[in-house]
Amino acid sequence: MLRLEHISKQFQSRCILGDVSLTLAKGDLLCMTGPSGIGKTTLLEIAAGIVRPDAGSRIIRFSHMACLLQDAPLLPWKTALENMDFILSARISGEKRYKNSLFWLEKMGLQEAAHKKPMEMSGGMQRRLAMAACFAGEPDLLLLDEPFAFLDALWQARIWEEIVAMNQKKGTAIFMVSHATEQLRDAGIRIVPLAASPLSIDI
Ligand SMILES: Nc1ncnc2c1ncn2[C@@H]1O[C@H](COP(=O)(O)OP(=O)(O)O)[C@@H](O)[C@H]1O
Ligand SMILES: [Mg+2]
Repeated sequence: MLRLEHISKQFQSRCILGDVSLTLAKGDLLCMTGPSGIGKTTLLEIAAGIVRPDAGSRIIRFSHMACLLQDAPLLPWKTALENMDFILSARISGEKRYKNSLFWLEKMGLQEAAHKKPMEMSGGMQRRLAMAACFAGEPDLLLLDEPFAFLDALWQARIWEEIVAMNQKKGTAIFMVSHATEQLRDAGIRIVPLAASPLSIDI
């Protein structure tokens, strides 16, 4: 369970989040949508524990969180496989880490790029590599900021399939931001449109 209670946040005396409360339980899939600059990334980063709110509390009972943020945190001097190994090293040990890495690199169409460094990969490939690292870590909470950005329609559909599978088969809780909401609406996903600024929501 992830619970944000009465969160507020301002940047340079501009209030972005007014009063935000939110609960995410095992098996939930929640998607926020809304115009640029409204505070979606800020809220996701507060949920991740990366940004500290000015007021309010964050309670987290999930044990393995994975985040896909807007900038993929890849080490430029390591190859795709080495990046996976590094990202997963805190969570998964030895043989399983290697197996998971190869499995997800292949699923994300990166088997040929396993020994390439991020600079030798396109933006879409880097994004898929960061995604592979998220999935391979077997999280029980997955936070995704614009997971379909930089991806063509084919990869958007494939990644969406993996997100749904992880949510439905493993009960992974997913909290995401996306503009590509048509396919989500078709799948009956809970979409929270954000409009008013500063944000005040209780969901
Ligand atoms: N670290 C920061 N310092 C100053 N302003 C910020 C910072 N992070 C975000 N902002 C501002 O907060 C607002 C909301 O940003 P963000 O959460 O990225 O919105 P969204 O993801 O909905 O586009 C924007 O106006 C942005 O410029
Ligand atoms: Mg954003």
